[in-house]
Amino acid sequence: VISMSWKNITLTQEETIAIVTLNRPKVLNALNTETLNELYKVFTQLDGDTGIRVIIITGSGKAFIAGADISEMNTYTPDEARAFSQLGHKTMDAIQNTGKPVIAAVNGFTLGGGLELALACDIIIASENAVLGLPEVNLGLIQGFGGTQRLPRLVGKARAKELIFTGEALKAPRAYEIGLVNKVVPQEDLLPEVEKMAQVISRKGPVALTLAKSGIDSGYDLPLSDGCNKEIVAFVESFSSQDREEGIKAFLEKRKPVFTGK
Ligand code: HXC
Repeated sequence: VISMSWKNITLTQEETIAIVTLNRPKVLNALNTETLNELYKVFTQLDGDTGIRVIIITGSGKAFIAGADISEMNTYTPDEARAFSQLGHKTMDAIQNTGKPVIAAVNGFTLGGGLELALACDIIIASENAVLGLPEVNLGLIQGFGGTQRLPRLVGKARAKELIFTGEALKAPRAYEIGLVNKVVPQEDLLPEVEKMAQVISRKGPVALTLAKSGIDSGYDLPLSDGCNKEIVAFVESFSSQDREEGIKAFLEKRKPVFTGK
């Protein structure tokens, strides 16, 4: 994969799966400017890496991410606050817009900017001990990395308002009940379970996965008929791919497909 040394994250690869791990456990992986810059770079690079089919993001230690770095924000001027929010949005957009499926493996505190980052991922799997919330109002702040926009789209307006107004965090089983996370698994099974799902996805046609992801995300805010028209265009694009040729041929020949992502 990418030969580059990172300060606040680690990047490992298992076959075609990349694992990005937030690695500032002393501050519960709080997101500072340097970490956001590294995340932006790593996701941009992974996006262009044809050897990678699925990306997992997780945290080291007892937290996924406890939020934006409060110590760094403490001295911000309004202009610096704007730049920080813009950098956060740019980073979350890079995560959401990569053509590869991204799974967040949330393993403990998933708060503020940390939950906002998870919301930019395609799928969230939580360990039983995970705690998810947007506590910004406790600090007199609102969300700055997309939480006021992505959370209501995922769980509905009323539930998003309750979470944001009270600042109260949800335990993983309740987060599952309201559709905030896809699945809850025992803590020790978190990475193995997420890797299992990533492996299943990694064997599917990459062109189809990219088109399905962008179809869902770009169609979500459109009127149904516009979204359906986009689907027709994307369907034809998948149909015109070498992956589709190989996928259908392999089915008819009763063998496993070998997709190239073309
Ligand atoms: C900076 C943080 C941090 C954060 C924890 N730490 N969260 N540092 N920014 N968001 C640091 C602590 O200061 C402490 O450092 C160390 O990590 C361990 O944390 P503790 O508090 O000792 O751990 P614990 O008692 O287990 O409590 C865990 C916790 C608590 C409940 C998660 O740390 C907490 O409430 N953190 C803040 C959560 C939060 O408000 N997040 C939203 C931030 S605003 P020391 O040096 O004392 O050991 C946000 C806005 C995003 O995210 C948008 C911006 C544009």
